[in-house]
Amino acid sequence: MTFSADENFASQLDAEDPLRSFRDKFHLPLGKDGKPLIYFAGNSLGLMPKSARQVVDQELDDWARLGVDAHLDAKTPWYTYHEPLREPTARLIGAKPVEVICMNSLTVNLHLMMATFYRPTKSRFKILMEDPAFPSDTSCEPTTLSILLSKMPTSSQS
Ligand SMILES: Cc1ncc(COP(=O)(O)O)c(C=O)c1O
Repeated sequence: MTFSADENFASQLDAEDPLRSFRDKFHLPLGKDGKPLIYFAGNSLGLMPKSARQVVDQELDDWARLGVDAHLDAKTPWYTYHEPLREPTARLIGAKPVEVICMNSLTVNLHLMMATFYRPTKSRFKILMEDPAFPSDTSCEPTTLSILLSKMPTSSQS
């Protein structure tokens, strides 16, 4: 295949894309001209799946109907929510199910990763972060640094 930067070539690739039908499964925000935006923010909040409202409504209905008992008796019990997510998440990231667990929020997981993997030495201790970063990402830094005061290298480590 010879790559070309023109619109016809892009349209042809779209037409041949086996995942093409997935586009219809998402709400596409519209631009000022009323046309769907070209959406590149998938690394942050992705597009809303059209099925999301029904799934969230199910959880709200279970909460309204069952209160705290929804932890165990909801259609998808909340207490064990990580279990049905384990296999599909492993498939998504190419890991074994035993290696995967879905838990917490992104911010909490960043704190856990920093506390686990950040091992400063005298010569390698800088944390680089874009400016401006997401507000809660920025909060990871001071928290981590205060947790890690006890891990700071002694003069024999570098
Ligand atoms: C880059 C980034 N950091 C942090 C967050 C906050 O995530 P959470 O509310 O799960 O901690 C978001 C949410 O969109 C994000 O995009």
